[in-house]
Amino acid sequence: MTSRLFSFAGGDTGAWRVTSVRAVVGEPIAQAARLLVVADAVAGSEPPSGRVLRGITSNERYVVRSEKEQLLAKQQGLGRPEATCAVLIPIRKSPAWWALTQDERRAVFEEQSHHTRIGLSYLPAVARRLHHCRDLSGNEPFDFLTWFEFAPEHEGAFNHMLAELRATPEWAYVEREVDIRLVRDGG
Ligand code: HEM
Repeated sequence: MTSRLFSFAGGDTGAWRVTSVRAVVGEPIAQAARLLVVADAVAGSEPPSGRVLRGITSNERYVVRSEKEQLLAKQQGLGRPEATCAVLIPIRKSPAWWALTQDERRAVFEEQSHHTRIGLSYLPAVARRLHHCRDLSGNEPFDFLTWFEFAPEHEGAFNHMLAELRATPEWAYVEREVDIRLVRDGG
């Protein structure tokens, strides 16, 4: 069975070398030399371990059919040989976000912030996977682990997308965000 659970373990092993760790908003996290990404649980991932973050892929909450079709038509998978840059961005949203109803969240996410529309314009250069954390336990440090891969020449475009997204009304609900840059050098 394919695991929906992914673990991101900071340490001295793993295919990805950490090039920078920056707390964008809120508390920083521990620095590590390398990142090991495992499609499963790993020892020591029970919170409050600072070294391992974990999340599960899930069904979509916000996309409508026409957006889903555009995503399916444009998106590429992870693991492309040329995509040697990755970014892991763990995010926690505020209690105010979680107090909204589903339709209110969709309104902020897409009608006001155009999250999917912005993201779509950076496909297929950037490949992505979204992991959810909230339902794993009551004390996960983040709500989402977002993972992106792209070729080095697309880093500028990726940074431009980040600036666009961080300026949206959706980001007013982000209370913790860490930007972890990585390069794949085999380890
Ligand atoms: C590569 C371009 C991107 C595309 C195509 C994209 C697309 C999407 C889509 C379609 C969803 C909603 C999934 C659903 O219906 O549940 C989503 C959710 C999300 N994305 Fe993006 N995104 C992109 C970039 C980013 C970036 C750069 C970040 C972080 C800085 C990010 C953070 C998130 C988060 C945290 C969620 C979950 C929101 C929530 O459920 O409250 N995305 N994204």
